Amino acid sequence: MANFSVMSAALSGRQRTTGARHALDGLLIHVRVVLNKTIGRSCSRCLQGLAAAILVVLIGASIAGCREGGQNVSNEDEIAPQRLFMFAAIKQRQPSAGIEAMRVNLGRRLYYDQHLSVNGTISCNSCHQLARYGVDPGQAVSKGYNGKPGGRNSPTVYNAGLQFVQFWDGRAATLAAQASGPMMNPVEMGMPSADHVLAYLHSNAAYVREFKAVYPGIEDPVTMDHVTSAIAIFEQGLVTPGRWDAYLAGDTGVLSAREKQGLRVFLDAGCAACHAGAGMGGNSYAQLGAYRDWPDQKSDPGRYAVTQQERDRMTFKVPTLRNVAETGPWFHDGKVTSLNEAVRLMGEYQLGRKFSAEEISSIASFLQALTGDLPQPYIQPQESAGVSQQPLADKHLHRMNGHSAQANSQRGE
Ligand code: HEC
Ligand code: HEC
Repeated sequence: MANFSVMSAALSGRQRTTGARHALDGLLIHVRVVLNKTIGRSCSRCLQGLAAAILVVLIGASIAGCREGGQNVSNEDEIAPQRLFMFAAIKQRQPSAGIEAMRVNLGRRLYYDQHLSVNGTISCNSCHQLARYGVDPGQAVSKGYNGKPGGRNSPTVYNAGLQFVQFWDGRAATLAAQASGPMMNPVEMGMPSADHVLAYLHSNAAYVREFKAVYPGIEDPVTMDHVTSAIAIFEQGLVTPGRWDAYLAGDTGVLSAREKQGLRVFLDAGCAACHAGAGMGGNSYAQLGAYRDWPDQKSDPGRYAVTQQERDRMTFKVPTLRNVAETGPWFHDGKVTSLNEAVRLMGEYQLGRKFSAEEISSIASFLQALTGDLPQPYIQPQESAGVSQQPLADKHLHRMNGHSAQANSQRGE
């Protein structure tokens, strides 16, 4: 732990000598958070902490560098590009061609298909509406096929492909691994087994033809692996570049003075220690309540439920902040209904910092600038290939419901 004290001391020294006090305050707080939380925890936690501390030092150095040098900042109002090194722009995916394009089409069709749920009522799009930034707008938690609520807030599917793992607790490694969950989840689409999903697809001649064309040379290509990989290929195209990406590419005029002010507070406070990378999140886990215990310690232990390791209690994947102004209500339980309140809570519980109303609202303005453009017409449902939109015949369902339901997690997928 000596390392951390040294870094902390080094930062304190720099703070005094450069006068970049406000900025370094936030960073120091973060080092303290890391110190607080890593002491006595396992080695992997320490390594995470070390990585965070190194990031903090780099951020500190870049701040100090630009404050001292000054020559990199042409205009006082502009933020030195070096301070943005931890972010990355994204681009709209190039339209695919050939078999890849056919797979995207198949994935899109599956994504919108309500018959992948046991009673033909909900699709992936019910909880992750592509026209509404990939969430179930206004819903703290989504309702499944039977109208019963699930346990967690539906995260956005936009830019999900940028994340290092899927789900709030990271229990799926890839989009394809994630996609098999909801169909058989008893509180989501409720299919009793994978066989039921495949029986539906086999019963539809147009789907069988499409699978054969898209996965050629295989006698029966209608398999769960192909279903989930087609959905994942479609989801990879759900990216939303916008003004933020133009800004990162050097077009500083696209952000208003207010939004830049918010970005400055965001950087100074240390938000980017967790919300960084192309997704501004989605690259790491963090304890919810890194600085101070989160008020609700009981309802959801986060990643602890997956690993049963004490150090993972209340740890969640850091979510992406892209489109965050459009994806409320916020947090894994969807209990926070105002973006300003979400920012206030992050300051207090992740960074030990009480923001003024002005700081909160400027950060919220910056977060609004992270809203990107929906990839139209990529997300338009396409009626083609003659896929039937008729509900499954009752007798087909009754026969299938004779099988015992495979319960996944009751929380999510
Ligand atoms: C009944 C609502 C519901 C349906 C239907 C549903 N999801 Fe989800 N989805 C959720 C919830 C809730 C979570 C978060 C669960 C968790 O983290 O424990 C989630 C998580 C995800 C994630 C992870 C995103 C992230 O940031 O971690 C992806 C990707 C996703 N769903 C895609 C799909 C796809 C594809 C389908 C259709 C096959 C689907 N979902 C159907 C509610 C739903
Ligand atoms: C120590 C890591 C860490 C820091 C620092 C941090 N966050 Fe977070 N942030 C998280 C985690 C983890 C979550 C998800 C918590 C949950 O819902 O379980 C989150 C969630 C959020 C959300 C809600 C996103 C959603 O989709 O529901 C917003 C908004 C947010 N953070 C903004 C900020 C801002 C602004 C700052 C700086 C003031 C900040 N965060 C600092 C880790 C961090």
